[in-house]
Amino acid sequence: MKFFVDTAEIKDIAELNDLGMVDGVTTNPSLILKSGRDILEVTKEICDIVSGPVSAEVVATQADAMIAEGRKLAEIAENITVKLPLTWDGLKACKVLSSEGKMVNVTLCFSANQALLAAKAGATFISPFIGRLDDIDLDGMDLIEDIRTIYDNYGFDTQILAASIRSVGHVRECALVGADVMTAPPEVIRKLATHPLTDKGLDQFMKDWAKTGQNIL
Ligand code: E4P
Repeated sequence: MKFFVDTAEIKDIAELNDLGMVDGVTTNPSLILKSGRDILEVTKEICDIVSGPVSAEVVATQADAMIAEGRKLAEIAENITVKLPLTWDGLKACKVLSSEGKMVNVTLCFSANQALLAAKAGATFISPFIGRLDDIDLDGMDLIEDIRTIYDNYGFDTQILAASIRSVGHVRECALVGADVMTAPPEVIRKLATHPLTDKGLDQFMKDWAKTGQNIL
């Protein structure tokens, strides 16, 4: 499973990228707001760091304007993925931009039928939002499983990009049900390395080592 990092914070992206943990980046208007940066400048900086797909989201709601914004965003770098909302206009824009050879990430997906439409419109990635379904007491992981089955049934190439990941449990479940990619905030990716028994074991080793009175260097 590929790891995308869901942020527009350059420091986090650079740190995780140096560790080999970043196969791509996703941003959205809320993350751009949080960064306090200009969308074109920060997106260019991200593309200079990361070689994999970097999603930049349009903000227009009509297909023609979405296409124009998508073309402008795609000029930033070759690895830009134009992010479009899963609306009827978004699907129209997806069809046009994907036919031009641009990578497209169709976002705000909350049903298997929406995912089927995105694949038929040529989406490179479909982004089902797990956490936001969990927020309204539905099971986000069921949606990932349904989309996996449908895409496999018909041989769609569209990659399932599990989004709105809120916990390490989400990451594990996504990997088990066969999501192609997951995108998570930097803190969730860092948390994947932690386990209380690792901390406990290391603490004991350090105490015992101190008693030996030895040094390695
Ligand atoms: C994905 O592309 C979105 O940017 C993101 O995963 C949304 O996550 P949230 O529901 O935690 O805001």
